[in-house]
Parts: sequence; C-alpha cells; structure tokens
Amino acid sequence: MNKKIFAANWKMYLNSNESREFMLKINANKDLFSEFDIMIFPSHVAISIIQDLAKGFDNIKIGMQDCDILTSGAVTGSNSITSHKVDSCIVGHSERRTIFNENDELIKKKLNNCLDQIGSAILCVGETLNEKEENKTFEVIKKQLSILPHQIQGKNLDIAYEPVWSIGTGLVASKQHIEDVLSYINILIKELYSDEDRPNIRLFYGGSVDENSVEELSSISLLDGFLIGSASADFDKFKNMLNKMR
Ligand code: PGA
Repeated sequence: MNKKIFAANWKMYLNSNESREFMLKINANKDLFSEFDIMIFPSHVAISIIQDLAKGFDNIKIGMQDCDILTSGAVTGSNSITSHKVDSCIVGHSERRTIFNENDELIKKKLNNCLDQIGSAILCVGETLNEKEENKTFEVIKKQLSILPHQIQGKNLDIAYEPVWSIGTGLVASKQHIEDVLSYINILIKELYSDEDRPNIRLFYGGSVDENSVEELSSISLLDGFLIGSASADFDKFKNMLNKMR
C-alpha cells in the first residue's frame, strides 16, 4: 500500500490562536507528523503563523482555502493567491459552489490563476445526492472537469473527488463508489493529458474521512491522498488517523 497524502482543510473551524496551538502540538509530535506528506489549508488569517511553525518540517505544505480571480485590485474582503507564498490552493470546493454561488466559469479563472501564479492547485469535484440518485455522477464530474487546461506543463494539479452528500455528513462514500469515480476521472485525464503531464496529476478523496475510514480507503490504488475537513481540525483525530497509517 503506497503512503497517502493527508490534506487538512481547516475551513473556518480554527481561529488564529487555535491554529497556533494545533501547530505547536504537531511540533510536539514531530516524529509522527514527519512520516507523512501533509498539506494544511488554514484560515487565511493563520497562514503566516502556520508557515512559521512548520519551518522544521520539509513534508508539510501550506495552502489557501480559496483565492480571488485577480492577483491585486479593488476587491474588498478578497484574498490574492500571491498574498502569501503558498504551496497550493483549493478551488471549486462544494461549499464555495453552494454558499458563494461559484460556477465553473469562475472556478476555471481561479484554477488558471493558481496554476499561473504558484504552479499548483487542488480542484474539487463531486455530485450531490440527487445527482447520484439520478445516476448523473459521471456527467457531473465530466462537466466540472471540462474547465481543466489542456496542458499543465510541469505544474501540479490535484483533483479531489468530494461527493457533496458525503462532506460533513459522516457518510463516507463506499470504496467501490470511489474506485469507480476515480477510474472515470483517470480515463478523462488520459484523454486530455500527455504521458509527460500525467505524473503531475494526483487524485484525492474527501468526504467524512476519519480514523475509522482512513485505513480501508487507503487500499484504493488510484488514490494519492485524502482531503479531510472536520477530522483534520481536531488534533487527536488527526493524530489517530496518522497512527492508523503508520
Ligand atoms: P469533511 O470535509 O471531512 O468534514 O467531510 C471534507 C472537505 O470538505 O474537504
């Protein structure tokens, strides 16, 4: 079983003090947290704090949870992908699609902005429960992936399959369902990208991953990593997940 990447999407769970305390605990458990490739997506206000406290870890990358389509300008309340020197940025998360009404056109601009500016991004895709029940999962995924650039030229593109019905609900998608969807995504990627580009594309799963599901899902061979929300913002749960995968 290859070792999976743990990408922690802290959403709006932790304020700056709590983020700092979390990172101090990671430092206090350095042996364990050095064994895995970890990505942390803190709230924007905590990025510098986390970057400072992650300096002793080569294996921990820090990213943004979202970014603007512009790199600077009169955009009150928004955040530029260049506001911090980050390793990655999440785009197209279902919470952005639903709460902030982001559509594929806008997500495409954000994705291209991330790839142009920092050479890396995580694009989230996934169907709603209705779409799943109407057997539209592949159709939805295909449409959401239609915004992908035709060449990635050495840039890193992570695609996170996150079924909307699984995010924050405790309902983890079955191994079979994830395998089917990742295989489908893999076919689309093979159609779109050259042999040269494909090694720079990684596939993630997200949706209620925790210490109880991580082991079973880790046996999915097409899977490179997990995008984890609530269980990644709870230090003991995060630690337990890693311990299970040691
Ligand atoms: P969850 O969130 O692990 O809390 O379900 C996953 C995500 O939204 O990335």
